[in-house]
This record gives sequence, C-alpha cells and structure tokens, in this order.
Amino acid sequence: MHGRDPAPPAVEEKLRTLTARRVRREPMAYILGEREFWGLPFKVSPAVLVPRPDSETVIEVALPLLADRTRAWRLLDLGLGSGCLLLTLLKELPNAHGVGLDVSREALAVAQSNAQALGVADRATLLHGDWREPGWTGPLGGPFDLVVSNPPYIEAGTIEGLMPEVARYEPRLALDGGPDGLDPYRLIATAAPQLMVPGGHLVVEIGEGQAIEITRIFEAAGLRVTAPVKDLGGIDRVLRATH
Ligand SMILES: C[S@@+](CC[C@H](N)C(=O)[O-])C[C@H]1O[C@@H](n2cnc3c(N)ncnc32)[C@H](O)[C@@H]1O
Repeated sequence: MHGRDPAPPAVEEKLRTLTARRVRREPMAYILGEREFWGLPFKVSPAVLVPRPDSETVIEVALPLLADRTRAWRLLDLGLGSGCLLLTLLKELPNAHGVGLDVSREALAVAQSNAQALGVADRATLLHGDWREPGWTGPLGGPFDLVVSNPPYIEAGTIEGLMPEVARYEPRLALDGGPDGLDPYRLIATAAPQLMVPGGHLVVEIGEGQAIEITRIFEAAGLRVTAPVKDLGGIDRVLRATH
C-alpha cells in the first residue's frame, strides 16, 4: 500500500542494519529472535540451535508411543537447546512432566523462557549437566517413559565446511558430535537402559547416513531398535529404541 512513500530515516536505518546482518549470513531466526516449531513460537538466541522442521519427525514418532494423552507420562530430553522437543511434548500431553538437560546455561535460560511463554513451566524441570561427566544421570531422577534427544551429531572436522549460517553462527556445542559425530549416542546408549522404565522408549534424531552405526551402538547397549523413520526430505532422521 505504501510502496511509493519514502521510508522515514529511522525505518530505513533499521532495515539497513537488519539486512546487513542477513548479508553476513546470520540466520533469520537469530535476527527475528523467534522460530516456529510444531506450530508453536520458540524464542531463540545464538546460544541455541535453530529448531529445524526435520526435528518435528521426533515428535511425530514419539506421540503415538504415548497414545493415552491424559496420562502423567514422565519425559526426558537430553540436549534441550531451545526446548522445542520437550516443551512441544508437554503441550501435547497435558498431564506429563518433563526433565530437560543441557550443558549450556545460556540455552537453559532460553528454554526456561520458552517454557513460561508456552504455559508449561510448572511441568518442566530444566537441569544443568554434562553427559560426559561420571554420574551425570543421578540428578535426572527417573525412570522415564520416554527419552528424546537431538544430540550434536556433526563430525567435528566437517563443521567449518558447512553453510555459513550454521558454521559461523550456530553454537559449536550444539553441532560437534566428536571425530565421527557419534560420541553423544555412545554416552546416551550406555545410560539409556537405566533411565527408562521397562518397555520405555528412546527416540533420537540422527544425521544423514548414521542409522546403521547408531543402530549398532544402541543394540550393543541392550536396546531393541526399530527401522529408521525418514524426514520430509526422504532422509533417515529418527531412530526409536525400546528397553
Ligand atoms: C543439536 S542441539 C538440539 C537442541 C534441541 N533439542 C533441538 O532439537 O533443537 C544439542 C544440544 O545438546 C547440548 N549439549 C551438547 N553437549 C552436551 C553435553 N555434553 N551434555 C549435555 N548437553 C549437551 C547443546 O548445548 C545443545 O543445546
């Protein structure tokens, strides 16, 4: 409607500043401070991974496992980030309680603010911890009916070669899965049986081409793994295991 009107100088200046950030390849979600996930608004900052549509596959796989939506399910999210996985599940399961773990205090603050904005903070316990430390599972409580995780799974040596939006701006902690990208899965697999109720479920996001190796890791830990589930791009994206 106002395409021919001159922009007031303050607006022009603001637009130039925002555009310059995008030209330097900063992700839109960091510029806007928000990204939608599963139809819900999530605040994001450079301390958290930008929630991805691919990760909605984790929710799609997890929800049918907890078919009675009214039960007081106990949920655990390892590597909480913005909280998009755990907090979405808490929105969908009105009597569930969730524990979320992250090594980044800045990420926990973002997740806490999302929990409040989404009205699920009273059912979410967000904890600081590091799955590389001995005894890390102790403070989590449990056992849990469902454990979800989208851990860092990029091979450390390949991060610099990723698109600038990811390599330059997203937190290294959210990307770096060690030399072969699988370190977090090994630690999660070792801990999972004691974190899950008998018959409980583990649902994890995986990187392209990692399904066979992670299935092996989970089976060696005594878990039963089902066939990988593809994301909308046709890539194996989620593995489900039971205990
Ligand atoms: C790929 S991001 C996923 C965030 C969010 N769950 C999502 O799906 O968008 C992985 C998260 O794991 C956390 N993380 C990385 N190493 C960790 C560790 N050793 N212990 C606990 N959390 C860790 C990172 O800080 C990051 O928030």
